Amino acid sequence: MVSRKVDINKIRDSRKNYGMYHSRFSTEEVPKYSFPEKSMNSRTVYQLIHDELNLDGNPDLNLATFVTTWMDPEADKLIMENLHKNFIDHFEYPQVKNIEERIVNILAKLFNAPGESDFVGTSTIGSSEAIMLGLLAHKWNWRENRKKNGLPYDKPNIVFGGDTHVSWDKFARYFDVEPRIIPIAKDHFTILAEDVMKQVDENTIAVGVVLGTTFTGEFDPVQEINDSLVKLKQEKGLDVPIHVDAASAGFITPFFEKDFKWDFRLEQVSSINTSGHKFGLVYPGLGWLIFRDHDMLPEDLKFYVNYLGDEMPTYTLNFSEGSSMIIAQYFNVMHFGREGYSRIVKRMMGNASYLASRLKESGEFEVINAASHIPVVTFRFSGNEDFTLFDLSYRVRERGWIVPAYSLPPHAEEVTIMRVVVRENFTRDLVDIFVDDLLNAKKALKGGSIKTSQRSAREGHSVS
Ligand SMILES: Cc1ncc(COP(=O)(O)O)c(C=O)c1O
Repeated sequence: MVSRKVDINKIRDSRKNYGMYHSRFSTEEVPKYSFPEKSMNSRTVYQLIHDELNLDGNPDLNLATFVTTWMDPEADKLIMENLHKNFIDHFEYPQVKNIEERIVNILAKLFNAPGESDFVGTSTIGSSEAIMLGLLAHKWNWRENRKKNGLPYDKPNIVFGGDTHVSWDKFARYFDVEPRIIPIAKDHFTILAEDVMKQVDENTIAVGVVLGTTFTGEFDPVQEINDSLVKLKQEKGLDVPIHVDAASAGFITPFFEKDFKWDFRLEQVSSINTSGHKFGLVYPGLGWLIFRDHDMLPEDLKFYVNYLGDEMPTYTLNFSEGSSMIIAQYFNVMHFGREGYSRIVKRMMGNASYLASRLKESGEFEVINAASHIPVVTFRFSGNEDFTLFDLSYRVRERGWIVPAYSLPPHAEEVTIMRVVVRENFTRDLVDIFVDDLLNAKKALKGGSIKTSQRSAREGHSVS
């Protein structure tokens, strides 16, 4: 039976809701570039900002990003519950610090660091901070070693490929280290061990190797580079460490290519970074830096502060940092385990291969990387067109898809490609819809008619 009793509070509440668009800001300019003089009702402000943000792209249709856009509701709950904890306050929030240390140990073991326990590493805001901290440690170690031997230490260099992420160039510039960048070629988008060895000398603080390049998702030849550096050590006594940038591969390769040696099983690999917020399946921003052993992290780089309680060592570029993503990473590790991560990675790789095969079969695209190691597919037009991939990227945006077109780094800059990162929530069904939309967008650019696909053309259910 429906109650006829009127709940006055409900009505008041609903009036407040309607009132949102009755404020003067529905017709007047909103303060944007100078500090507003007066306060504003929180509901109105919420609605204004909420409505403006509707103009952002839909993260789930953002095929450009490596970064996680979906997590389990229980993870969301833990994230919300811990948003107000500053991670750096270890004395106040000791359990979050404990959890961080557990994950460092878990990842060190996953990456086959020698030893049983007490591994060394840190959480960071992302892979960029992890790369810089890792390379700083190598710069310190190199300098100490040079000093100890009475050798000059004013010209450090670092060797890496043109296929690396901009954070490598940033490190070189910000921390005054000469970058020796090995160019990629028009027909080969990763580096070669022999080219690395031509650049390495006694002033090389480290060699950078990328597993899952930002540009094509391919791997630098980590084993060949390691073997060449081992040979150099044996023949000339030069011990040059490798830092592996496994921003993407760190949470893929251990579950998908278990026997592929890329980590601390290789003698010269001394530090590894990975992004928790990429295939670690956590929202931004979380990265990890793991060292082979304690000797790699110079004591000089640790800072001990006691103004938050107990004396605590810190090794970060930032001070304050959220706790939620670290907790969310622990949630994933516990929830998925090796079994779950393996299952998710297999699914993503399967969908990525399927995407590559559909693009190939269409005859319209040449696939450059069909998810060789990580679920990333890169492609370009199979023939000449009188429009560009940038036009196609723009056109397909009409359907909500965000898919980037870009040119490759120097020496291959005339090569323009498109890249799709196949994340967990890019399902087989969405792959089909996306490929249909892409083909339709291309047809439209050619001047053909546009077919609005509501279901996969493959299933024979396209609706015009
Ligand atoms: C290979 C590689 N290294 C480093 C980074 C930087 O990572 P983050 O965004 O976590 O700082 C990226 C980002 O895409 C990347 O692809």
